[in-house]
Amino acid sequence: MFFVCSVAVTGISTEPPLIIELFESLLTPCSRALRKVGYLRGQILIKVRHRQSRRAWQPHLDRTQQLIRDAIRLCPQRRKAVILGSGLLLDIPLGDLRRAFREVVLVDVVHPLKVTLLAKWLGNVRLVRADVTGTAEDLIRVANSQTLTLPRSTPMLFCDDPEVDYVASVNLLSQLPHFPTVYLDQQQDRPESEVDAYARQLVESHLDYLTRLPGVVSLITDVEKLKVDRNGRVLERFDILYGARVPQPDIEWIWQHVPLNRLSKDFAYHRRVVAIKNVKAAGE
Ligand SMILES: C[S@@+](CC[C@H](N)C(=O)[O-])C[C@H]1O[C@@H](n2cnc3c(N)ncnc32)[C@H](O)[C@@H]1O
Repeated sequence: MFFVCSVAVTGISTEPPLIIELFESLLTPCSRALRKVGYLRGQILIKVRHRQSRRAWQPHLDRTQQLIRDAIRLCPQRRKAVILGSGLLLDIPLGDLRRAFREVVLVDVVHPLKVTLLAKWLGNVRLVRADVTGTAEDLIRVANSQTLTLPRSTPMLFCDDPEVDYVASVNLLSQLPHFPTVYLDQQQDRPESEVDAYARQLVESHLDYLTRLPGVVSLITDVEKLKVDRNGRVLERFDILYGARVPQPDIEWIWQHVPLNRLSKDFAYHRRVVAIKNVKAAGE
């Protein structure tokens, strides 16, 4: 059942999750509503894909961690660090953050069991379970009606917390519209233009949110999906941010997201990733 869903959602055939992942999905704290939108399944799929493509993913994970380490040095005060999209902590230098800040707050719509246990054990790590768009519950309420309009995102979480000295949005931005739009496609027929406008608003409101948060704010995100042949030639490009523009990056790199021979022997899917250490100081 889970395997069938994973193929349907991603279009990529993955190895069936092990029994441990099935148990994990039952035991992980996640509301029925958020399970319905697919967040829990999505996170377990990231774990499975990481296991399948560990070596190809490592440079991307290392670069993300390094960007965060570099950004920590920009913080004159080091009270609270907030990590948005902490997930499985694959790309988070948690040890460096814990040493640098009095408190590290990990924010995700779903916290994996392993991270929940780890946070209980570690002294200065706190988990916040939140949908950073603030729209998921409303989405479920209106999804089945063609007359009710889709929700608008106006994120505020931590905006008025004066103790926050650092925030990082970590490989999260492109995920914000992903599961909501897949979920909407499975419900009532809605004009594609309406779904696309909703998706773009989710992305743009997050970018705006990052400029309103206190402290130094970093953004690491994939912005484009590339279909690449075996010689490295780009065959197709897909804008995964629905036309939204990110600030001028400090650095960018290619993430070999679906390496050659995983899906096809003829092509791979890469992601172009951009990283900005200090969003508020970056140009357009
Ligand atoms: C690609 S992962 C980021 C990688 C993550 N840092 C890791 O190491 O696993 C994206 C994360 O964003 C989370 N996410 C997706 N939509 C979200 C939302 N609306 N609010 C909060 N977290 C969300 C997912 O649960 C997932 O853990």
